[in-house]
Amino acid sequence: MIGAARKASRSLRRDFGEVENLQVSLKGPANFVTAADRRAEEILRTELLKARPGYCFLGEEGGLHEGTDKSHVWIVDPLDGTTNFLHGIPHFCISIALQREDKIVAGLVYNPINDEFFTAEHGKGAFCNDRRIRVAARQRLLDAVVCCGLPHHGRGDLGQFRKEFAVIQDKVAGLRRFGSAALDLAYIAAGRFDVYWERNLSPWDFAAGVILVREAGGYVTDLDDKERSMEVGDIIAGNSTLHREVLTLLQDAAKS
Ligand code: IPD
Ligand code: CA
Ligand code: CA
Repeated sequence: MIGAARKASRSLRRDFGEVENLQVSLKGPANFVTAADRRAEEILRTELLKARPGYCFLGEEGGLHEGTDKSHVWIVDPLDGTTNFLHGIPHFCISIALQREDKIVAGLVYNPINDEFFTAEHGKGAFCNDRRIRVAARQRLLDAVVCCGLPHHGRGDLGQFRKEFAVIQDKVAGLRRFGSAALDLAYIAAGRFDVYWERNLSPWDFAAGVILVREAGGYVTDLDDKERSMEVGDIIAGNSTLHREVLTLLQDAAKS
């Protein structure tokens, strides 16, 4: 997984440099970025299937490629944080998860710009490069930095989000929107953010991030407090205390 991410990151880094040039052109870099996404996914697919030829591969760009071994699936987002990438903002990543039967057993989130590798394997803890990481121990919402996702134009319930946002903003030290779900979860695992929530995601946005948080001692559920994020696309993560507190506030806000 690390080898595949390194190889794809060379292509992404090169393309990001080009985006910075295209930024000033009238046409802008949008089409170019779509191609950058596809190029990176192709490299990841080739490399991962070279290592494990029978596994299935689910990528955001190319969908599902069935393999002979149906019990293993690579779940891949070749570029998470596309809007940042498109605007020349150096906050995006490659996300790779390995699912065995119905369980995510390994995850990697890699930011090629600052060279941070977040990795986790079931039962073996979570790491940032070679350093063991843990979720933050903070217990008071007043001290917490909370990260969220915003509904995209035409998707999700903006009215509901505004209610939730208002309730949370009132109670925390800071509220952030960084634009990469996979890195948001990696930052929860590393204790940088205290709580993260978002709706309407796809499995490749968070599959790797979920195992990072759990292996770092954190809690991840959907917004009904069930472990059904893969099915419903909603997610909330943090340490056990703050996960519970923010979830309760969000549920109350939804009812108001
Ligand atoms: C997006 C990012 C973003 C989240 C969006 C995702 P993409 O993925 O993770 O943070 O808010 O919902 O779709 O499109 O950059 O791969
Ligand atoms: Ca994504
Ligand atoms: Ca993507």
